Amino acid sequence: MSSIYGEYDKILEIIKNEIQNRIINYTNQEYQKTGMKIYEHLIARVKTSESMCEKCRRKGFPETPETALKIMRDSIGIRIVCSFIDDIYANINYIKSFPDCRVLEEKDYIKHAKSNGYRSYHMILEIETAYPDIQGNSPGKYFVEIQLRTIAMDSWASLEHKLKYKKHIENQELIVSELKRCADELAACDVSMQTIRTLIQNS
Ligand code: GTP
Ligand code: MG
Repeated sequence: MSSIYGEYDKILEIIKNEIQNRIINYTNQEYQKTGMKIYEHLIARVKTSESMCEKCRRKGFPETPETALKIMRDSIGIRIVCSFIDDIYANINYIKSFPDCRVLEEKDYIKHAKSNGYRSYHMILEIETAYPDIQGNSPGKYFVEIQLRTIAMDSWASLEHKLKYKKHIENQELIVSELKRCADELAACDVSMQTIRTLIQNS
């Protein structure tokens, strides 16, 4: 079956790699300077054609390249997982300095956690590239979704994600409230870990 992105799937891969490499180079530079990793790990992906089709259907849009590339804004997704909260904001500042990118949307679910306890920082970037886009713009414009979280937030989100897709769950209410409690405890730990790190750095 052909891709929902049509001929643009190769360009999405190139842009994903470009942004990923910038972040990797930045962390390497910082590592040379400070001996500290500014993120723990990073995942970059182009959303599979199947998942993108499913998302278009779910949101009531036609399954076309136009929807996938211009209405949906997470065809390219990068998740940066950091050890410490301060590192998240350092990465955000660096990303905001990209001259070819504009920040279209920012959601700080770290300062304002979702009601279920979910925490992360989300950004949607619009990048201007040397490649054409589906609307015939030159330079072409593409969206990139970036999620930044701590290791603790990431482990919570992956557990919660698994439970969400489980069909029949008993004690739903208890599970939701226990998950929320875990999220809040992990968040308190993240703050303590950051404080300890700052104390060590200043001593
Ligand atoms: P989309 O239509 O998916 O872009 O949703 P949105 O823009 O309304 O939501 P948002 O930007 O807040 O979240 C998008 C992504 O963040 C999701 O695809 C997930 O990867 C992640 N996410 C958001 N909320 C949750 C949550 O409650 N639990 C988990 N595990 N992940 C979440
Ligand atoms: Mg979104």
